[in-house]
Amino acid sequence: MDRRHFLAASSLAAAAPVLSQTIGSSTQTANASSLSKRVDFTTDGLGLNPGEYAMLLQHTVTKENFEPDYYSNGGAIAELEQKFAKYLGKEAALFVPTGTLANHLAVRKLAGNDRRVIVQAESHFYNDSGDCAETLSDLNLIPLAQGRSTIELAEVKQWVERSAGGRVPSKVGVISIENPVRRKNHEMVSFEELQRVCVYAREQGIRLHMDGARMFNLPLHSGKSVRDYAALFDSVYVSLWKHFNAASGAILAGDAKFIEGLFHVRRMFGGSLPHAWPQVAVATQYLESYEQEYAKAWKAADQLIVLLQQDARFKIDKVANGTSKFFLSISGITPELVTERMHKRGFLLPHTNPDNGIFQMQVNPSILRSSPTKMARAFFDSLKD
Ligand SMILES: Cc1ncc(COP(=O)(O)O)c(C=O)c1O
Repeated sequence: MDRRHFLAASSLAAAAPVLSQTIGSSTQTANASSLSKRVDFTTDGLGLNPGEYAMLLQHTVTKENFEPDYYSNGGAIAELEQKFAKYLGKEAALFVPTGTLANHLAVRKLAGNDRRVIVQAESHFYNDSGDCAETLSDLNLIPLAQGRSTIELAEVKQWVERSAGGRVPSKVGVISIENPVRRKNHEMVSFEELQRVCVYAREQGIRLHMDGARMFNLPLHSGKSVRDYAALFDSVYVSLWKHFNAASGAILAGDAKFIEGLFHVRRMFGGSLPHAWPQVAVATQYLESYEQEYAKAWKAADQLIVLLQQDARFKIDKVANGTSKFFLSISGITPELVTERMHKRGFLLPHTNPDNGIFQMQVNPSILRSSPTKMARAFFDSLKD
């Protein structure tokens, strides 16, 4: 045994009692059901705590053939990029340290000299990115579909024509679409309307970017694969820290020409981490299994919902065209008290809406650490003490 493997083996052995709760045997790939027993209804992924993350990282990086990156290029990062690109049906991909920067780099490159960019008014890019596109890349964002998830073809056409017909004609260079939409309770964009918008954009020579931070949740609800979605767009961003349990990071995928040289722009924006592997090395192992785990999680959540509905104090609402969220209200107890009591039983509940006390429950693979019966029992018991 060489020194590296001796150290790895001995540190895994030392951590064995805790590790057995977190990643099972050191030779197995960690999966949702063998991680800690906590069920986290607040998160998009497993909600690993720092200790669990550190152990999972150690388990990942002490495998044979693990190669670190250098300045976010090569090694485990190149492998991650290739695997995500292939899964999405794209030729190439680039690791980017945040989704905020991934959206910005994509739209900036796709726009070229056509500086107008159509976005959803409810998108992260328009609301939560500090006007980076305007301030740092001289782009002009046009927010459409206020209060809605889906941009209709009619409004796209209207704005494309209006832009082209100004006294100084300005071409719309890019349409950027977030799907599912975080600010709309993770609602899906209509696939049919998306197709119509994309066909029209192609006819007009307008480029297309997708903010697919949580796009791996779409197939279960829409029946369309992540490849079906990605195929409509020139570039697609997927978050690595939401479904794939990384500490941070994003994948930006597109054709080889789009990705070529983009790592220089990433660096220009200060986004080439000298060592990116600690952020994302754990993510690759979840890529192939995530969709199945999410489907199983919803099956368990639906069973939980049926059980809770047998008690009139529990009221559940689903989101129309929704993905990972459902709403839960519980009468006869304060949200704070039920949160505290559920926490003691190993179930983390999300914050409630202060106006109505409704929990915005997130369905994710951590649900598979328990069973519908056990979860329902914990809720019922929490109403008593
Ligand atoms: C839809 C969407 N896009 C982009 C981002 C930005 O990702 P990051 O926090 O990695 O910058 C987020 C983050 O929550 C998001 O929800």
